[in-house]
Amino acid sequence: MALWGGRFSSGPDEAFKQFNDSLPFDYQMAEQDIIGSIAWAGALQQVKVLSAQEHTELVAALNALLSEVQQDLSAVASAGYEDIHSYVEAKLIDKVGDLAKKLHTGRSRNDQVATDFRLWSRSTAEQIVEAIQALKAEFIALAERELGTILPGYTHLQRAQPVLFSHWCMAYVEMLERDESRLNDAIKRLNVSPLGSGALAGTAYPIDREALAHNLGFSHASRNSLDAVSDRDFVVELLSCASISMMHLSRFAEDLIFYNSGEAGFIELADNVTSGSSLMPQKKNPDALELIRGKTGRVFGAFSAMMMTLKALPLAYNKDMQEDKEGLFDAMPTWLACIHMAQACIKGVKVNGEATLKAAKGGHANATELADYLVAKGIPFREGHHIVGQLVQHAISKGQNLEDLSLDEFQTVCPVIAEDVYPVLEIDACIAARQALGGTSLPQVEQAIKTAKSTQNSNS
Ligand code: ARG
Repeated sequence: MALWGGRFSSGPDEAFKQFNDSLPFDYQMAEQDIIGSIAWAGALQQVKVLSAQEHTELVAALNALLSEVQQDLSAVASAGYEDIHSYVEAKLIDKVGDLAKKLHTGRSRNDQVATDFRLWSRSTAEQIVEAIQALKAEFIALAERELGTILPGYTHLQRAQPVLFSHWCMAYVEMLERDESRLNDAIKRLNVSPLGSGALAGTAYPIDREALAHNLGFSHASRNSLDAVSDRDFVVELLSCASISMMHLSRFAEDLIFYNSGEAGFIELADNVTSGSSLMPQKKNPDALELIRGKTGRVFGAFSAMMMTLKALPLAYNKDMQEDKEGLFDAMPTWLACIHMAQACIKGVKVNGEATLKAAKGGHANATELADYLVAKGIPFREGHHIVGQLVQHAISKGQNLEDLSLDEFQTVCPVIAEDVYPVLEIDACIAARQALGGTSLPQVEQAIKTAKSTQNSNS
């Protein structure tokens, strides 16, 4: 039975029904719809629409329904009703008859769906916050495990300057930190109750909307009924948080795919996150990482789809807004799964410190050090830059690193270079020189780890 048959002389045709129904996806909000209904029943009792006895009976039936849907949520999806609100009402009528029909007094599916969706979003977002924290902890653990490992740092995908492998780990901790804080902000803003806004104009019953909001764990009630039923900013914000974080995860995935390649050979991924080829027996493919990279596109898609759906929609509720759910229902679990997979990849990664060191030593990654050395000898940086360029060219022509050149070779290009250049060119010296805040020297990286661990502890 539909919730609105009275005005109609014939029912919807089958194709329209299929087109219009949202139960096949909004069944996922069954719990939230029931919990919101329990709170609404309480509000109706307070304004004497329900007697104490009716309230008790309704709440008992709603709780019974809650445990039924919890047992088999997917059965709800195919029950054939228009949407989750119709489903809950119909099941309630099965249980308590006409009394169930009182529950929708003063309420519209418009404030109801906005409430359900916010409740769903809040609990899903909270799970993701926890997952991000766990992923940060995994990066920190890897940073501690690989504290002495030296990695070539890249710009333009060319070896640029050596960095500590742990510095690379902590860069992702920074990104995840921002992802977490962005998501917490979004949670704060979405945690507002639209319930009691009616269809668009507010409810005609003297409901204490603040108390109702607090019952559902919201921080307060929305202030404008028109806005409350048509606002989907929270969906856009969550999809934006998801997109930014997926962008970070895709960069992480790409870094590791490259480090794992035969050409780099910097890391080896564990068997549990890789797969083989059906044809080439030697292959061990980084599928988990490639899927993280690939799924990023899908999350970005959900974000832009939502923006386009909402653009130029007149106030207040329009059925277009039913299109708000599938994107978020897909994007949030996808994001969560990618966070979990990223964690699994990091947990089992083996770093080949010899290979990373060898690569860091090649590629003339100490050229900046030599330029700084010349500056210390009184040569202006621009000039020093040019001199070092010539020396690099010379080293390349001999297939050598800068530190392999003889003092004679150095002095032919620049006479001020002396024996004391060699310690400067050592890779450890390149790392150790980066002492300023945020640099890759060991004390700075250790400090970053310490700070991250202490914020981690205070967040949990
Ligand atoms: N299934 C609808 C949605 O997801 C519920 C709200 C329906 N409201 C209405 N006035 N038809 O948006």
